[in-house]
Amino acid sequence: MKSLFRSVKNLLSVDMGIDMGTTRTRVFVRGNGVALDEPSFVAVNYRDGETEAVGKEAYKLFGRCPPHLEILKPVERGVIENFELAEAMLNGLLENLFKKKALLGARICVVSPTGATDVEKKAFEDVAIQVGGREVFLVEAPVAAAVGMGLPIDKARGLVCVYLGGGTTQAAVFSEGELMFSVSEPVGGEDLTEAVISGIRKKHRILVGAHTAEQLKTAMGSAYPSDRDETREIYGKSVMDGLPRAQFISNWELREMMEGPLNRIANAIKASLEKAPPDLAADIKRHGLYLCGGTAQLEGMGSLISHVTGLSCSISGNPQHACIQGAEKVSGDMRKYGRFTTTPGSRQFTG
Ligand SMILES: Nc1ncnc2c1ncn2[C@@H]1O[C@H](COP(=O)(O)OP(=O)(O)OP(=O)(O)O)[C@@H](O)[C@H]1O
Ligand SMILES: [Mg+2]
Repeated sequence: MKSLFRSVKNLLSVDMGIDMGTTRTRVFVRGNGVALDEPSFVAVNYRDGETEAVGKEAYKLFGRCPPHLEILKPVERGVIENFELAEAMLNGLLENLFKKKALLGARICVVSPTGATDVEKKAFEDVAIQVGGREVFLVEAPVAAAVGMGLPIDKARGLVCVYLGGGTTQAAVFSEGELMFSVSEPVGGEDLTEAVISGIRKKHRILVGAHTAEQLKTAMGSAYPSDRDETREIYGKSVMDGLPRAQFISNWELREMMEGPLNRIANAIKASLEKAPPDLAADIKRHGLYLCGGTAQLEGMGSLISHVTGLSCSISGNPQHACIQGAEKVSGDMRKYGRFTTTPGSRQFTG
């Protein structure tokens, strides 16, 4: 009896949400808000195929890991590319979060990218079931984000929520509480970081790691010209002789390097607006665009998108958490938001 009590104590029944993105994975647990926000990385041991580290511990090893480890990403361009890795990563992250207690029949709201195929959606559902989900449902990222930001989707005749992620740029257009359409393009913050790496290699003949490029981008990068002049010294390896080299990089140089993917992001948003019915134009113009997602934090992003679309842009206070906060709101009020979720009956665990 005692041992049964002990094992029941180690089972948890929770109401939670999972947003497994190209670069970061976030989890909300009802009652605890955003309980987890870590890089979407897994360190796998070549020798035995075992998972050595997940999340921030795996990311720390990225670019400087011992030869027997490989640092891998389960999610690419917003969709699960490697199911086993995704499961291992989520299991590891949730084990750390719940201190080894197993999930018992969790109710899980999963954020999935807009435009995902049925197979891609099923992978998100299956991974949530594998980690202990009993009732699993999906909500599209820009829809979750609009709810998370508290946008007036019920009242507006035309409202656009733009999500700028790590591997995707997504937009959803709402009219009087209905989702009119949503679109996704495979371009995001990762492309900006890669553009910094290749820009420094081409211009200065120096190889820099992903950590250095990411830090440069977030600390000094910008999407639109400004009066600010800033320079930083970075370290990398000379392409010529492989020796360590230091180099000063300026903010305007960084912007030039990122120009290609920045234009692709802005043009993807412009193209999505072209699909909106003309009757919504006046209201869309009045509201402007609501931006969120990690890449919305790049300095000057709103100015660039305003310049390209001719619309004003507002950025939510906590743009990187808009989707996961939206998942929490959606799953907390299914009467109001259930219409935005999908729970394919055939895939639901009914036992
Ligand atoms: N201050 C900042 N300036 C510029 N970019 C930033 C900043 N903070 C985070 N980012 C970028 O935001 C991106 C991550 O955003 P987010 O967490 O919304 O994406 P994701 O969910 O991992 O990706 P996706 O939803 O596209 O699969 C990364 O590319 C990161 O470099
Ligand atoms: Mg995301």
